Formats: sequence, structure tokens, C-alpha cells
Amino acid sequence: MSEYCIELNGITKKFGSFTAVNDVNLKLESGKIYGIVGPNGAGKSTTMALIMGSLFPTSGDGTVFGHPLASPEALKVLGYSPEFTSFYSDMKCYEYLWYMGCLSGLSSEESAKRTNELLDQFELRAHKDRKVAKFSTGMKKKVSLAQAMIHHPKVLLLDEPTANLDPTSRQEILDTVRRMVQDEHLTVLISSHVLTELETVISHVLMIDHGRLILNAPIAEAQEMFKQGILWVDTDDNEKLILGLSGKYKTEAVEGEGVRITTKEMDALKKDVVSLVYSNGMQLNKLSEEVLSLDSLYKQMMEGEKNGSDTEKDASENAGA
Ligand SMILES: Nc1ncnc2c1ncn2[C@@H]1O[C@H](COP(=O)(O)OP(=O)(O)OP(=O)(O)O)[C@@H](O)[C@H]1O
Ligand SMILES: [Mg+2]
Repeated sequence: MSEYCIELNGITKKFGSFTAVNDVNLKLESGKIYGIVGPNGAGKSTTMALIMGSLFPTSGDGTVFGHPLASPEALKVLGYSPEFTSFYSDMKCYEYLWYMGCLSGLSSEESAKRTNELLDQFELRAHKDRKVAKFSTGMKKKVSLAQAMIHHPKVLLLDEPTANLDPTSRQEILDTVRRMVQDEHLTVLISSHVLTELETVISHVLMIDHGRLILNAPIAEAQEMFKQGILWVDTDDNEKLILGLSGKYKTEAVEGEGVRITTKEMDALKKDVVSLVYSNGMQLNKLSEEVLSLDSLYKQMMEGEKNGSDTEKDASENAGA
């Protein structure tokens, strides 16, 4: 049995002559939450569909807990909440979940028991006899998540589970995901466009663009890797500070905040700032390092893709771990 729960080996998906997923190598470890980010059309949903076995690769292959993609053994341990879920127009919430349970191989009794558990877990009990097709977007997303969980999967694939939701509903969905991971030791692959909110949930970031995996790294490592090094400094004489640092560092005075200094040599910068402050007898009011958000990381990566810069090269070397 593989030590990874999911492995993709050089997987490629073409639609005609168009390559939607391009030679992706990926290994996902159990019990972690992976965020998959990338612009529209990058290949996120296609990658998930390939893992789910609902699309067949043009070339390459993969496994789920050592079982080939699309095999019954693989399907049994995967739960999938697609980007767009279509609900049978006449089915009520309880009926839908029970039916999906039966489709996933549970007996009628097992499915009824599990449906009842999930109705409580997702706070859908009061709505169990209402038609899902008439539910609000947020409630539909909850039903879709509950459906993905019905057969106690080990891996959850959540394709934009928070899309088109208000901030409260988004938080509720993410809190539910977090709880499920803790309680059931799940591995989750979650895609989203709202990068800053993923940051609070995921342990790893996968970045995909034009079908290629351009980054695969623990979130802290990714942030470290692309840290431009931003130091905020405020003194009683910021003009003198800027003058003292000019030529060596990129500085910018920001009204009410102090001076924003950008560098890749953070330790050297800190030493320079401190010695400048000390030798000029300045008063230091603020010295703080900025933590890069996933959003700025993403923007840097995409800029790198456009410009073909070193950032892209570094990232590619680190992708596909
Ligand atoms: N069945 C299909 N036939 C032809 N092209 C397809 C098909 N499915 C996806 N594509 C194309 O493959 C590319 C990747 O699509 P995919 O849905 O995986 O992107 P995505 O990253 O999920 O985008 P989004 O953020 O908009 O959901 C897109 O250019 C899309 O048009
Ligand atoms: Mg998509």
C-alpha cells in the first residue's frame, strides 16, 4: 500500500487538441488539507474529475490509497462535492441524501442512519422534507457536502464549496470542513478563488496554471519561499531613515504607517535599520515584519508566469514534490 493517499503520475487531459491538465505529478499525504488555487480555466476542476474517475486521462495515471483511479476501491474512499451540483427537482433533502447513500453502496438501513446523522451534523434537520432544488445556494452547498460524506470517505474533494456564498455561510462551510478533518482524520483537496479564506484552513498549497502544477508546498514554506521581505519601520525622522537606506533597499513612505522597506535580505536590513537608528540617535516607534498572505503569493506567482521570471523557475523546481 502506498504511503500517499493520492498519487498522480504525469497525468494529462486533453479535450481535442486543447490540453486542460498538463503532465501533473502529485502526491497527497493523509490527514492534510490541500488548497488548489489558480485562475479560471487553470484546470482545477478537471484535475479533481480525473482523481474522481469521472474523466479519464489522455496519458499518465494515478492511484487512491494504492488503487487505480476510477476503480471501485478508489471510488469507495473518495467523497466529491462538485463545482455545480444538479439536484433532482422533486427530491426532498432526506430522500436525496438517502438515495445518494444507497448509490454509494450503503444498504437502505445504513443509508437512513447515516442520513439522519448528517442532517444533524449539517443542521439540515428542520429542512429535511423540503425540496433541495428550492434551497438557497448556501444550503445546497451544505447538502452537497453532506452527500460527499455519506459513505464515510477518507478523502474529500471539494470543488469551490464556498463559491457564491455570503461571508457568514462561507465561514460556516469552512468551519464544517475543519471539524470533519479533525473528527474523521480526512484528507481534503479544496479549490477556491477566495484565497485569503483558504489560508486559514489549508496546510499545503497547490497552484495550477494553464494545466500545469506550478507550486506544491506547505503553506508556511510557500510563504517563506516568496517572501519579498517587507519590513515596516517608523521612527521620529523617517526622511533620514529613507536617505540612509537609499541605494541599498527599496523604500516607500506610507502616510500614518511609517516606511515600507522591501528586501530579500531581511537579516541584513534589520541590522542596517538598527545601526542607522542608533548612530543617528533616532527614536524607533515600529519595526515589524510582514507575513505574506496567500493572496500576495498567488499574485506573485501569476506575475511570474506572465513574465517568465525567476519566480516561475524557482516555483517549478519546487512543484510536484
Ligand atoms: N468537457 C470539456 N470539453 C472541453 N474543454 C473543457 C472541458 N472541461 C474543461 N474544459 C476546458 O479545460 C480548461 C480547464 O477547465 P477547468 O474547469 O478544469 O478549470 P478550473 O480551473 O476549474 O476553472 P474555474 O476556476 O473557472 O472553475 C478550461 O479551458 C475549460 O474550458
Ligand atoms: Mg472549476
